[in-house]
Amino acid sequence: GSPWRVILKPSAIIYQYMLQNLSLTIVVENSASLENDQLQAQHGLSILLDMSLESESMKLLWDTGATPEVMLHNADALNIDLEEIGLICLSHGHYDHTGGLMGILQERTAPVPLIAHPEIFSPKLKLRPYLKYIGAPFTRDQLEAAGAVMLPCRSPATLAPGVMTTGEVPRMEVFETVEGFWTVKNEQYTPDPISDDQSLAVHLPGKGLIVISGCAHSGIINTIRYAQRITGEESLYAVIGGFHLMGADNKRIDSTARALLDLGPAVVRPGHCTGQKALSRLQEVLGESCQPLAVGETIEL
Ligand SMILES: [Fe+2]
Ligand SMILES: [Fe+2]
Repeated sequence: GSPWRVILKPSAIIYQYMLQNLSLTIVVENSASLENDQLQAQHGLSILLDMSLESESMKLLWDTGATPEVMLHNADALNIDLEEIGLICLSHGHYDHTGGLMGILQERTAPVPLIAHPEIFSPKLKLRPYLKYIGAPFTRDQLEAAGAVMLPCRSPATLAPGVMTTGEVPRMEVFETVEGFWTVKNEQYTPDPISDDQSLAVHLPGKGLIVISGCAHSGIINTIRYAQRITGEESLYAVIGGFHLMGADNKRIDSTARALLDLGPAVVRPGHCTGQKALSRLQEVLGESCQPLAVGETIEL
């Protein structure tokens, strides 16, 4: 049957405190910054979320860029204290999101909880222009030895009031296909649906739903619809991250732009693997609300 038959209700837990505001710092991104030439750009993504919860603040790191060198250099240039990061979440197992993680763990003294889908450790391959390994540069044992407290999770996980990981995203939109990725399963060489792909879904009271993606290999529209379902918040306020439309055909790009126009978010910030062609088209369709990401910038939501 259709996964949509499973009706997911927002958590029944009644929180005594609410998310008050959320600011994002783009720590690693493909696009260089015009304002800060100290920062390095690379094909990768890492976003620091800073959330106020009454008297407490919570710092969550979403992905870790492609290399320890760039991750640590930019964190230092942005005055980010790695010890203050209370939680690390990975969007999926590709190297450009996981590659900086060991550097962070080795730099820190305290252990840190790490939320990711268990299949981030499955073999991740691409075939063009030849067979390349594009997965995480570590094993689970190495992560744990370096201080990660592993919390493998396939389903949505609540991290704070209104803040969730999506876990595995149901693939409902016919135009949002996954192509070009391979894995090895039961000793069979097979297309990789990247089922470990997930995003963050944040319900910011007074604003609406905020979706923060890694690569959105599940499809950015699939991801938004699932985020609406698991949070119970229909009104989309912002979409930020990689939309993985590099190499997508015009039909898919147009379908994505139209769906986003219908959803009507006030803030659309595509970056990383969105691709220049898709970015231009999204800006054409969505107008001023759509602006590309750049490394080092802070987004107050
Ligand atoms: Fe990526
Ligand atoms: Fe990816």
